[in-house]
Amino acid sequence: MPPYHEPVLAERAIDFLHPSPGKILVDGTLGGAGHAIRIAEHLAPGGTLVGIDQDPEAIEESAKKLRNALVDVRLLRGNFRDMRTLLKSIGVERVGGILLDLGVSSRMLDSAERGFSFRLDAPLDMRMNPETGETAAALLARLSESQIREILYAYGEERWASRIARRIVEERQKEPILTTSQLAEIVRRAIPYKAQRKEIHPATLTFQALRVFLNDEIEALRQFLDVCPDLLEPGGRIVIISYHSLEDRAVKRSFLRDSGRCVCPPGTLICACGTRSLLRIVTKKPVTPNEQEIDRNLRARSAKLRCAEKITLSAE
Ligand SMILES: C[S@@+](CC[C@H](N)C(=O)[O-])C[C@H]1O[C@@H](n2cnc3c(N)ncnc32)[C@H](O)[C@@H]1O
Repeated sequence: MPPYHEPVLAERAIDFLHPSPGKILVDGTLGGAGHAIRIAEHLAPGGTLVGIDQDPEAIEESAKKLRNALVDVRLLRGNFRDMRTLLKSIGVERVGGILLDLGVSSRMLDSAERGFSFRLDAPLDMRMNPETGETAAALLARLSESQIREILYAYGEERWASRIARRIVEERQKEPILTTSQLAEIVRRAIPYKAQRKEIHPATLTFQALRVFLNDEIEALRQFLDVCPDLLEPGGRIVIISYHSLEDRAVKRSFLRDSGRCVCPPGTLICACGTRSLLRIVTKKPVTPNEQEIDRNLRARSAKLRCAEKITLSAE
């Protein structure tokens, strides 16, 4: 099994979360527990670390790494979109802080059999929770050309979406597209050679788009953002590290709305965004990794961190 890599923006994330002894903190995207181990160090004595991940391998691996933590550790298998229910299942209603470090782990990308990587030949799977849902191969066999095109535009901002979608449909008529290498090659041949950039594999955006769509990543984030303020105690903080413009936009919009700013489209006469005053935005602009971190860890290059704090209402 490939190892988990260095956690992105680790120190900044902990500074913003400011975990302290006795608190309950949630890592909603546990992965290899890189952030979680650091959070746990600040919670002793008496604190609780709740770790959530939809990937069974992440839970298994993190359980080993957190075995010697000096705090109560509760690991829950599930989707962070259901965080309220997951916390209820262990008798917790409100917490002192929540971290989300979105997307897939480096380990998922480096495990050929998970089918996330165009660099490794494997069945075209891409499910973060490998026990449920449709694989990417099944998805590509079923969708129409226009649906594939829309997914590539919407979730990958792929300018060659039409050509790639057409080529996928042509190729699947000859033989089913079942492996990562087959798809990577189809995409490579669909994009004009002159438009291909040396530093980035031509299938990068296609793989990203299919993964985000297949795992319903943006909708899961939106559902979480809607309940997140309710899950925080006054002064509790939410820290989100995102890697995709749609994710960052959803976080920014939700923080603005929950800090009392209307986010309806310009010209809207009656506000319908549900603005409410529950959070204070801590990071006016997203925090990004410095060059040294990007040199050490390429995955950090597109990371954006945003933080907000639950405001203390006078009645509380
Ligand atoms: C970038 S990795 C987290 C790495 C982790 N911070 C570390 O330092 O090791 C993202 C993890 O979140 C999980 N994940 C992504 N979306 C999720 C969701 N909606 N619910 C639960 N887990 C999710 C993935 O399975 C993956 O293990």
